[in-house]
Amino acid sequence: MSDILLAPPCAPDAHRRQLTFATVGVGGAGIVAAAVPFVSSFSPSERAKALGAAVTVSIEGLPEERLMTVEWRGKPVWILRRSAAQQQRLQSPDLLNVLADPASLRREQQPDYAENPQRSIRPEIGVFVALCTHLGCIPAYRPDAGATDLRAGWPGGFFCPCHGSAFDLAGRVFRNVPAPSNLEVPPHRYVSDLAIEVGTDKNAN
Ligand code: FES
Repeated sequence: MSDILLAPPCAPDAHRRQLTFATVGVGGAGIVAAAVPFVSSFSPSERAKALGAAVTVSIEGLPEERLMTVEWRGKPVWILRRSAAQQQRLQSPDLLNVLADPASLRREQQPDYAENPQRSIRPEIGVFVALCTHLGCIPAYRPDAGATDLRAGWPGGFFCPCHGSAFDLAGRVFRNVPAPSNLEVPPHRYVSDLAIEVGTDKNAN
């Protein structure tokens, strides 16, 4: 059995404000601070179960280009609904040339069913552990392609304010940043068209 969570999607700006607050500081302090908004929605017994149990999440009503955050095993997990334009940008040669691991060759960073350009089961839905692979800060969601305060040709993605690592909308890390690998894709599966179970492998019975 899994717990059922319904978390509201975050508008990019609102989410950015939350994450900016959450990631002030480095490493562990940032993680603890960031976990507070999600932990507070659990009663103690529910939280205890959520630390180890799979979590079922409804994605009904999650708009395109928005993400929602849920907690699994004490970690924030993003569920992102990518638009067609965002999916298309993931295949751009200009983008692939500046990524460190565009083909997801580091297999420990995702289940085998996410070893594809979108790093996901369904191309429009991305599921990522929301912790930078450098020292564990929570990156900010920056879907605003072309943003002038980020790297040239920014395609939309995630930016870690702690030390400047950047990831695209498939969680693939850019070259020459502190983070050594792509964002982790947790085990997950669809229990219906509109619900994802985070923490259970796609191929599990
Ligand atoms: S924690 Fe260092 S760049 Fe993200």
